[in-house]
Amino acid sequence: MSDVDTKAHWEQVYRRISAEQVSWYRPHLETSVELIECVAGGRDARIIDVGGGESTLADDLLARGYENATVLDISETAIETSKQRLGAAAERVRWIAADVTSAELERGAYDVWHDRAVFHFLTAPEKRVAYVRNVARAVRPGGHVIVGTFGPEGPAKCSGLEVVRYDAEQLHGQFGAQFRAVESRQEIHRTPAGAAQQYLYCLCRVE
Ligand SMILES: C[S@@+](CC[C@H](N)C(=O)[O-])C[C@H]1O[C@@H](n2cnc3c(N)ncnc32)[C@H](O)[C@@H]1O
Repeated sequence: MSDVDTKAHWEQVYRRISAEQVSWYRPHLETSVELIECVAGGRDARIIDVGGGESTLADDLLARGYENATVLDISETAIETSKQRLGAAAERVRWIAADVTSAELERGAYDVWHDRAVFHFLTAPEKRVAYVRNVARAVRPGGHVIVGTFGPEGPAKCSGLEVVRYDAEQLHGQFGAQFRAVESRQEIHRTPAGAAQQYLYCLCRVE
């Protein structure tokens, strides 16, 4: 899929389906919050939520006192919805409308990189390489990376798009030696329609 098509796809999804009806919806991203809390260090941690969509992670980070959060997403519609939901608090979050595989992110700008259900859409190897290059550039040495994808028994598609499913070793293998594996977790997510989906979260440290 071309970059233009990827953006068009996600804009259409968020225009057509409400935040609470998308299959990946959870009222709160509990596992993500827990893993971020484990590694963030102080409340001044610079955290980027890549492909944040309309999730409430930014709300939950603000509620816990994190004042240096950034949300990046390819969909301007999703970003606008999240800003509306947050109201005045949206000004305490930095918003970037961009494709993570081509975004120009500042070197060493983040202490924590979080991605729930974005990396698995990168079915082309060159897109995964571009993604990992951006992580390696944007996260400072000693910082942490949390990536959540569908696990080996998760669905083969999400939002009508093919995904790549990973176990912990395979996912870590995509990132390479510069990223030291710290922890992995599996989670069964219930979609709003009631289906069970296996997710895998990997946490690693940038050496
Ligand atoms: C399955 S949703 C997950 C949203 C959110 N992380 C959550 O867990 O609720 C995938 C998100 O990634 C965004 N996305 C997809 N491809 C992207 C890309 N190449 N760059 C940035 N965002 C992307 C979509 O717009 C969408 O918001």
